[in-house]
Amino acid sequence: MEIYIDTADLTEIKQAMTLSILDGVTTNPSILLKQGVSYKERLAEINEIVDGKVWYQVVSDNSMEMVKEAQEVAALLSQPVIKLPMGAESLKASKILSDQGIETNMTLVFSVAQAILSAKAGASYVSPYVGRINDIGWSGHQLIKDIAQMYSIQGFQTKVIGASLRGTQDIVSIAELGAKAATMPFKVLMQMLHHPMSDIGLIQFREDWKAYQAQLIENF
Ligand code: G3P
Repeated sequence: MEIYIDTADLTEIKQAMTLSILDGVTTNPSILLKQGVSYKERLAEINEIVDGKVWYQVVSDNSMEMVKEAQEVAALLSQPVIKLPMGAESLKASKILSDQGIETNMTLVFSVAQAILSAKAGASYVSPYVGRINDIGWSGHQLIKDIAQMYSIQGFQTKVIGASLRGTQDIVSIAELGAKAATMPFKVLMQMLHHPMSDIGLIQFREDWKAYQAQLIENF
C-alpha cells in the first residue's frame, strides 16, 4: 500500500520522511493556499526533500491549458503525478498526459461511474473523497470497496487512493476494502504510529532492563 501525506508544510514533510515509509506528498490548491508562498518554489523544495512522488493539482479550465500547466510543473519534479479535477476537460487531459508517460490522478471522485471514466482516460490513480462523502450522509468506505471491486473485475490498472481521510480507522478500513494507496494529514500519520499500549510496554521493558542489569552487577 502506498502512503502519502497531504500537505505542503516542509516541517511536516521532513518529519514524515524520517519514518522511511513515505511514498510521496500530495497537494491541492487549498493546501498551497495555507502556505502563502510561490507554488513552483514550494513544489521544488518538496521535490528536494522527498524521495518519491510529488502530486500537483492543475487549476486550468480547459484540456489544452491543463496539459500545458501539467507539463510545466512536471518538468520541476522527479516523479510527478498530475491531479485533474473530475470532469470532461480533465478526461481529455488525462488521456493526453498518460499517453506522454506522465502519471495522472483523477481527483474529486464521488461515484463508481466517474471511476470507470477515469480509468478509461488512462488515470494512474483515482481519488474518492472518503470524509467528504461521509459528511453528506453517504458511505465513503462503501465507495472505496465498490470501485476497487469494479477495477478488479474489469482488470483496470488504475489504483484507488483514498483521500479526505480523517483518522487511523479510515486508513485501516480502506486498506481492507482494496485501496492501493492513501493520502492523509500529517496528524493522521502520527496517529497511525502511536498507541498508548506501545508506550506503556516500552517503559516497562526499559525499567525491567535496568533492574536486570542491576541484578547482574549484584550477582557477579
Ligand atoms: O487532497 C484531497 C483530500 O485529501 C482533501 O481532504 O480533508 O480537505 O476533505 P479534505
